Amino acid sequence: MAYSAYVFDAYGTLFDVHAAVRRHEAAVGPDGQLLSEIWRAKQLEYSWTRSLMGRYMDFWTLTEQALDYAFRKVPSADTSMKAPLLDAYRELDAYPEVVSVLRQLKEAGARLAILSNGTEAMLESAVKSAGLDTLLDDIFSVESLRLYKADQKVYDMVATHYRVFPEAISFQSSNRWDVAGATAFGFRTVWINRAGQPDEYTDLSPAVVLQSLDGLPALT
Ligand code: LAC
Repeated sequence: MAYSAYVFDAYGTLFDVHAAVRRHEAAVGPDGQLLSEIWRAKQLEYSWTRSLMGRYMDFWTLTEQALDYAFRKVPSADTSMKAPLLDAYRELDAYPEVVSVLRQLKEAGARLAILSNGTEAMLESAVKSAGLDTLLDDIFSVESLRLYKADQKVYDMVATHYRVFPEAISFQSSNRWDVAGATAFGFRTVWINRAGQPDEYTDLSPAVVLQSLDGLPALT
């Protein structure tokens, strides 16, 4: 294999963060999409600010706080859906191509891992329910560092564990800011631009841009 390991961001890249609200669309109400977008945006904002302040709180707690905020911003959403939405977040759907792409890479001899802001428990649950547990070699959570992406120590955890130079790792993320962080660290980066978003962080560009993970096994 051209790379020592293929390392994937979890939320938004392997797991569809909007699947929780979609699963309960009818019960949540007409503004479900807005609720889901605010939920995700606040979850990420809390991770960045907490990391900058040195006031770590785990990602599950931030996910819950972000959902509480989203409910306050979207009064039409039924707050009794909080528990079912959080339960659904523990078992998010993987994007449709994920299992087959990971399997192809694995059969070609690749080492596969996740590097995520999620807690170990969140990641284990999502990986298991999506049937990825037999395909992944390692799950790296920021929990032990008590820092969040894009702190460079997060990316360094993987290179240090595998005892390789950063450029030996191929890192895939749908989050452009995460791609920027991983590029700054020196990983070969692949931006999975699922939603066709405009480019940003143009001084920290990915090596490759794909619309989904489908094209990954063909890359070298
Ligand atoms: C993660 C978030 C950034 O999985 O999506 O790390």
